[in-house]
Amino acid sequence: MTRLDGLNIAVTGGAGDIGAAMGAEFRRLGATVTLIDRKTPEEARPWLERAAAHGPVAYAQADVRDRAALDAALAAIDPLDVAIGNAGIGHGIPFLDISLEQWQEHLDVNLTGCFHLGQAAARQMVRQGRGGRIVFTGSWVQEVPWPEIAAYSASKAGVRMLARSMARELAAHKILVNVVAPGIVRAGLAKHQMETEPQYARRIEHVIPLGEPQTVEQVARSAAFLCSDGAEYMTGAVLLVDGGCSLFQFEE
Ligand SMILES: NC(=O)c1ccc[n+]([C@@H]2O[C@H](COP(=O)([O-])OP(=O)(O)OC[C@H]3O[C@@H](n4cnc5c(N)ncnc54)[C@H](O)[C@@H]3O)[C@@H](O)[C@H]2O)c1
Repeated sequence: MTRLDGLNIAVTGGAGDIGAAMGAEFRRLGATVTLIDRKTPEEARPWLERAAAHGPVAYAQADVRDRAALDAALAAIDPLDVAIGNAGIGHGIPFLDISLEQWQEHLDVNLTGCFHLGQAAARQMVRQGRGGRIVFTGSWVQEVPWPEIAAYSASKAGVRMLARSMARELAAHKILVNVVAPGIVRAGLAKHQMETEPQYARRIEHVIPLGEPQTVEQVARSAAFLCSDGAEYMTGAVLLVDGGCSLFQFEE
């Protein structure tokens, strides 16, 4: 059975649907949890309540584009055992219509945000001298060109290579770096698209071989595995948990 007893875990995007589920799952498995998000504590409250289902979690307000704020949030965690880069944005926009600002925002939050979290956490872990784990939330679309999310998919493909590059350099410090790559989750970013983009809702009816969108709990359990003893020999890997979406099942 997966246990995370005694670990101090930080999760960015922790006041979102997947992040809050991760917080609850990590807490249930015995970890101490700090959620980090750009939302004010008041805005974050509904997600913090969900995350606290199995015991209290700490909260720090920080934008992942703000390195000083992120450094401060992580420095308050002593020692830092695991850092999860999960903050993300995603907007469905046809390629021909993507503005430079929209392109840049996806890269800044999804990719550079993971760079900031990853480097800040890794420096802290090297100073601590006891190794650690870093996990990024990627996506099945880091490999598959799903329509109208070119900026998002490119940012997630970058996250995958960032993780692999970090894994190689940080192995000597016993810092393991992996990606959990969910499929189409009935929550957060994808739920927003299901509700606001009729063409998205139509497309997903045919692309999930396992038939149902993923739950946040399923993503959280996979992330927990990457923090656990069971993954102690994994680094630079992508744990793809997409219900088979990337098997390219198209409408018959
Ligand atoms: N929902 C899905 O189907 C799905 C599938 C694959 C991967 N993901 C990934 O899962 C992660 C979580 O997404 P979610 O679906 O829970 O969406 P969500 O919107 O519920 O959560 C994302 C959280 O990130 C926070 N955030 C955004 N920009 C930030 C910034 N600059 N600094 C700090 N926090 C910031 C938001 O405030 C929000 O709380 C994202 O990385 C997303 O790309 C989601």
